[in-house]
Amino acid sequence: MKMEPFALERWMTTWEMQVKYDIAESGILPLRARDLLELLPEGERAKALETLLGLRLGYSEARGSEELRGLLAATYENASGVNILVTTGAIEANFLLFHVLLEPGDHVVACYPAYQQLYSVPRGIGCEVTLWKAREENGFRFDPDELAHLVTPKTRLIVINTPHNPTGTTLSEAELRCVYALADSAGATVLSDEAYRWLRVPGGEELAPPLFDFGPRAVSVGTLSKPFGLPGLRIGWLAAHGDLAARCWAMRDYVTLSPGRLNDALAAIAVRNRDSIFERNRGIIAANLETARRWFADRANWLDWRAPKGGLLSLFRYHLATPSLDLANLLAERYSVMLAPGSAFGYEHHLRMGIGQDPAVFAAGLGRTAECLAHLRENTPRLAAATE
Ligand SMILES: Cc1ncc(COP(=O)(O)O)c(C=O)c1O
Repeated sequence: MKMEPFALERWMTTWEMQVKYDIAESGILPLRARDLLELLPEGERAKALETLLGLRLGYSEARGSEELRGLLAATYENASGVNILVTTGAIEANFLLFHVLLEPGDHVVACYPAYQQLYSVPRGIGCEVTLWKAREENGFRFDPDELAHLVTPKTRLIVINTPHNPTGTTLSEAELRCVYALADSAGATVLSDEAYRWLRVPGGEELAPPLFDFGPRAVSVGTLSKPFGLPGLRIGWLAAHGDLAARCWAMRDYVTLSPGRLNDALAAIAVRNRDSIFERNRGIIAANLETARRWFADRANWLDWRAPKGGLLSLFRYHLATPSLDLANLLAERYSVMLAPGSAFGYEHHLRMGIGQDPAVFAAGLGRTAECLAHLRENTPRLAAATE
């Protein structure tokens, strides 16, 4: 299996431990272990801490504990623990699904731009991958009518991601029904990467139900990394019908075997108390969105930005000749700011921004970005939108 380098991950690892203002980050400000315990009623905290400290750190149940699988299953319609496989992040869930569902030569349709794993791993397996492209001129929406022209009787898998990384666009319930119907007509499966599930944006769109609820050809992938602010637990999952979760489990025996016990126990606390975590997320998102709206409004004649409809991410265009990788490196090196280069997603003269970080860091990061851009505007040619 030959893999293309994961462009964004390679770039992020160069800078993420060095910069002070990481506003490229794709998640929400992580919780501390203490924050998790503080989600519990005061009278229960000491006992919960004692239980965690007394946990034997042996192998856990391979599929994830029954408790955690039950809690996750309850977030879908008509799911039970057997439909759920707890994985090492959403990244492992996607990886297992690709390997279980696909053979070399299969036809796959994958959304684009995208979290690179979603099309690079099927390519690495030897599949023929057709990209379903979001149209920038259409607010980065994915058009199901276009998808209808891409799906063929040979299509084995359709890969979608909603809310979407990197554009913040969403697929509505009606659009998801169209995607599901197209898969059904081709006898294909739909893998819906729902890493940004539960992350609503004020003024954005109502989030559609998870795809698992749409029928037997649907698979949902979830994670504690983004909506729960717990990426370091490395807990994700897949929700699948029939024997698909069991088949992925059989593949996982050769990879990571089981989740960490402590992580599984902390994850159960988080999922049980998710409403309090989502309340915290709403405060962070609302504050950063307001800061971003003001910042972009002041620069509307040379930065094109649309607030995300859901999730945490958006891609904005700048009208300067500087390539996005050069600009992102300059911001990181001289201004200690991380904004991800659009070129990692195939969108030159764009940068990806996340609105999940500490509001003070976010505002300071945008302030420094303004300094950098003002300097560049005086010293580099401006790109007219029409000439790009
Ligand atoms: C769309 C999408 N899917 C999956 C992942 C992987 O997330 P994790 O493995 O941390 O759950 C990410 C991470 O950025 C993502 O953006």
